[in-house]
Amino acid sequence: MSKPYYITTAIDYTNGAPHIGHAYEKVLADTLARYHRFAGREVYFLTGVDQHGQKVQQSAEKEGIPAAEFASRTAGLFRALWEKLGVVYDGWAATTDPRHHQCVQRALTQLHEQGQLYKKAHRGFYSVRQEQFLTDKERGPDGQFGSEWGQVIELEEENWYFKLSEHVEWLKGYISGREDSVIPGFRRQELLNAIERAEATDLCITRPKSRLQWGIEIPFDPEYVNYVWFDALMNYASFAGFLADPDSGLPDFEKLWPADLQIIGKDILVPPHGVYWLIMLHALGIPDEKMPRLLVHGWWNLRGRNGQSEKMSKSLGNVVDPDVLADEFGADGLRYYLMRDIATGHDADFSHDRLFSRYNADLANDLGNLANRTLNMIQRYREGKVTRGTFDDETCTELRGMAAGTLEAYRTAMENHLPHAALEAVWQWIVACNQFIDKTQPFKLAKDPEATERLDAVLYHLADTIARVSLLVAPVMPGAAEKLMNQLQLTPEQRALPLDALASPILSDGHLTGKPEPIFPRKEAPAAE
Ligand code: MSP
Repeated sequence: MSKPYYITTAIDYTNGAPHIGHAYEKVLADTLARYHRFAGREVYFLTGVDQHGQKVQQSAEKEGIPAAEFASRTAGLFRALWEKLGVVYDGWAATTDPRHHQCVQRALTQLHEQGQLYKKAHRGFYSVRQEQFLTDKERGPDGQFGSEWGQVIELEEENWYFKLSEHVEWLKGYISGREDSVIPGFRRQELLNAIERAEATDLCITRPKSRLQWGIEIPFDPEYVNYVWFDALMNYASFAGFLADPDSGLPDFEKLWPADLQIIGKDILVPPHGVYWLIMLHALGIPDEKMPRLLVHGWWNLRGRNGQSEKMSKSLGNVVDPDVLADEFGADGLRYYLMRDIATGHDADFSHDRLFSRYNADLANDLGNLANRTLNMIQRYREGKVTRGTFDDETCTELRGMAAGTLEAYRTAMENHLPHAALEAVWQWIVACNQFIDKTQPFKLAKDPEATERLDAVLYHLADTIARVSLLVAPVMPGAAEKLMNQLQLTPEQRALPLDALASPILSDGHLTGKPEPIFPRKEAPAAE
């Protein structure tokens, strides 16, 4: 049995509602998971929520409810959004899951027994408001801690530390020796530079219960809970069955590990994933060839009033709500935009205008109209039946001949985690179909009794290309693709065809198509203010 292709994502903080950045990452992972299945691989897709830590405890306190209640309520918002957006996962990584607690505690015990953890006192400046120790990095240009930190006191606290610095040389060697350890390449370089620059220090992995209760208890020192990042990072392994009981219901770790694609945003590469996580795995005995591959994506920003790109953040009050956009453009309209208007690895500016015009131009016009016109003509001229016949000419050969190039470009793009480029390739074929209609003018052929066979061939080529396109767009727009397949009346076997099979026509001679209905109704421009 070959290893399933294991795709994971960052797990989202449940200290607030999901926003467009969260939606992007999960749609990207879902699209790639669907693509890899389409390409014939067995896939395991894991996503979930990061529920412990100070932020959640504070948000819950503000509402006057237990942290567990708050975390489970917000986790529900994420699950509901994934359902709405058609993000379908095989495993749900909620860090409050007792199986995860068990794994984290077992990993901590193992590291403790290996002599990788030690306890020491730290004296330093502590922000009472933010409940964290401050370093010189937090000092302003005047050398003082700014007012955002509130009251700052000098405090001594004992905690457990993980001997991170012992493994930094290993990390350097591993990252520089493996080209695909972090993709894209410029992010790997960024990580290498950061490791070079940073002073190797150990990682504090506990918080005393006196200031944080909402976390996983340290098994060998119950006055402490685990630092949220250590706990959260372990999810990729715990929910893959690492250190799990045989009857846990979790996957078989030996079979599933490592993650082929661990999808994270650029903000959490250095240090959490690129340094802490890889070193944690190494210290736990995971060999180099079993290290997860990190795919680092960019951020959706907003074009601010000054024309500059600005960060989306709750404190700036400028976050974009994916739930509202899915109501406006449909889950598939939103998924399409999120996959089409950003190149994986780079940043992009979110723009409602762009979403609106892409929806109308690419979806309502190019694809929606093409399918509508074609199915209409097949109904009108042939009562729904498509006939291959023997007629052929240069125009038909040309359209058919685009299959090989389209599939090649599509496959290469998806294998390189670039859905925007895969969509571009498919759209060239769609645009060619529209030009094919302009060239062949089937509505004129329908009036010419001499052109019966030619009309059959034209309609067949159109219907067959749209059928193939419906499978190609399914990883990005599963819902719309299904509607299209329903209208085309594709059989279950045709719907399940693998990518390779699309190199040749897929509709049989005499195939019956159904009635068209607009899949992407055109949006009217909002009235000018
Ligand atoms: N809980 C941590 C991750 C722990 S992983 C062991 C976290 N959570 S988060 O909710 O803040 O972010 C979750 C993911 O969403 C991260 O990968 C982050 O990069 C991504 N995004 C958050 N805002 C984003 C944008 N504006 N654009 C794109 N992705 C963004 O970090």
